Amino acid sequence: MKVVAFNGSARKDGNTALLLRRVLQVLKTEGFETRMIQLSGKHLRGCNACRTCYKAKNKRCVIEDDPVNAYIEMMLDSDGIILGSPVYFSMMTPEMKALIDRAGYVARANSDMFKRKVGAAVVAVRRAGGIPTFDAINHFFLISQMIVPGSSYWNIGIGSKKGDVEKDEEGMKTMDDLGMNMAWLMRKLKTKPKVKISKKETKTEFQKT
Ligand SMILES: Cc1cc2nc3c(=O)[nH]c(=O)nc-3n(C[C@H](O)[C@H](O)[C@H](O)COP(=O)(O)O)c2cc1C
Repeated sequence: MKVVAFNGSARKDGNTALLLRRVLQVLKTEGFETRMIQLSGKHLRGCNACRTCYKAKNKRCVIEDDPVNAYIEMMLDSDGIILGSPVYFSMMTPEMKALIDRAGYVARANSDMFKRKVGAAVVAVRRAGGIPTFDAINHFFLISQMIVPGSSYWNIGIGSKKGDVEKDEEGMKTMDDLGMNMAWLMRKLKTKPKVKISKKETKTEFQKT
């Protein structure tokens, strides 16, 4: 089983990367195939609201001059998706927002194609804005019909300079517990359900966001 993590920070290998690596390390030890993509320097464009994805229904965004379609493919290929962002003015970074807006719209245009994958938000913050950022990322998972596991605290690490989050013992423990809960949940979701869910029950009409 696979897990992909995206680091939305403009600062490569900073605090968000350290938090994500901590979760991924647990998942790797638990036997999952893991990878981390850093969005730093990638110049991702935002959604242009053309709705071509709703017409084409080909699981792609019409914008082809940046790596978002490759990221969408990685998400589709994974059992678990972790989205990590530092807090910038009380919210996620524009890179992470661009990824969510475009991957999220393409997913909705294609019968909620991330449905029942496991999703987790991870946030690095110096002082304030961690919870709104954590909530906003989780809203993407929840509207995508994904399953969101908890941890022993909200998945936030405190730090300013590169490496500071490693001193946040509780934050680091939260990442370890998140990794264990993701592993447990993904294994449960892979096991065949005893009660068969009818096709009729799972069929949904998709509306505009
Ligand atoms: C443009 C910018 C805006 C920021 N805004 C906030 C903020 O609103 N609240 C806060 O606590 N920290 C803020 N920070 C600090 C970062 O969230 C913090 O340093 C974080 O650990 C950076 O993670 P990174 O190393 O993964 O980039 C800001 C940093 C930058 C560069």
